Amino acid sequence: MAFLDKHKKIETHATLLLVLAFLVVTIGGLVEIVPLFYLDNTIEKVQGMRPYTPLELAGRMIYVREGCYLCHSQMIRPMRDEVERYGHYSLAAESMYDHPAQWGSERQGPDLARVGGRYSDHWHVDHLTNPQSVVPESIMPKYGFLSDTTIDGKYIEDLMKTNREVGVPYTDDELASAKADFAAQDNPDADSSGLLARYPKANVRNFDGKPGITEMDALIAYLQVLGTMVDFSTFIPDKTR
Ligand code: HEC
Repeated sequence: MAFLDKHKKIETHATLLLVLAFLVVTIGGLVEIVPLFYLDNTIEKVQGMRPYTPLELAGRMIYVREGCYLCHSQMIRPMRDEVERYGHYSLAAESMYDHPAQWGSERQGPDLARVGGRYSDHWHVDHLTNPQSVVPESIMPKYGFLSDTTIDGKYIEDLMKTNREVGVPYTDDELASAKADFAAQDNPDADSSGLLARYPKANVRNFDGKPGITEMDALIAYLQVLGTMVDFSTFIPDKTR
């Protein structure tokens, strides 16, 4: 066939094949990539998403420091077995304030993207202190030492400023109240109206049940908010995108 003969010319001529392949990849690449430069934002806006509270943000740093992501992912894929086990698949917006994202690639343990609210604070203290006391066959290491270190929020404003540099929209008001909000979230007796106005629906309680703010408090505050910001009973995906 004439068409195949012409194609044979391309296939047997290395330089011609290279030039044409280059052209095809270039055009294909431009079509895919150029529109992205004209979009302000590639992440669909979703109601309910807010930046982390100072205490949650501190807990997130402990999660990263301890390498929890080496065994746990935070990314529920839109496949039936995942959605039935973990809940609604993860939305891009749900990790828009995560720098860096904690999607992870390892699942020695379950996905944690929606672990918030699934267990009590007390369960988390017991489990983090001695995972095998709750799940005998668990291979998760013990993190009881997190209860021994208190944190005073001295650097929390700096941490929030750093996050602002990379795009988290913390306001000046939030930065100025960082230390007070940090302490208020762990104290159910304190006036938390300011904290709740800045960070709607934040959990305010003494997470580890002991006096003082420890790394354990911060980590549990973080775990308890994971996947809970978006209300999926009212969420409607934008199918036009
Ligand atoms: C060596 C791998 C490993 C590391 C590191 C690890 N985990 Fe786990 N994790 C597991 C395994 C396995 C399970 C399932 C058994 C169990 O519940 O202990 C688990 C379970 C959990 C659960 C319960 C999840 C659920 O839905 O039942 C939470 C919460 C959790 N881990 C948090 C953490 C945090 C926070 C860290 C870091 C401080 C961490 N894990 C570090 C392996 C790990």
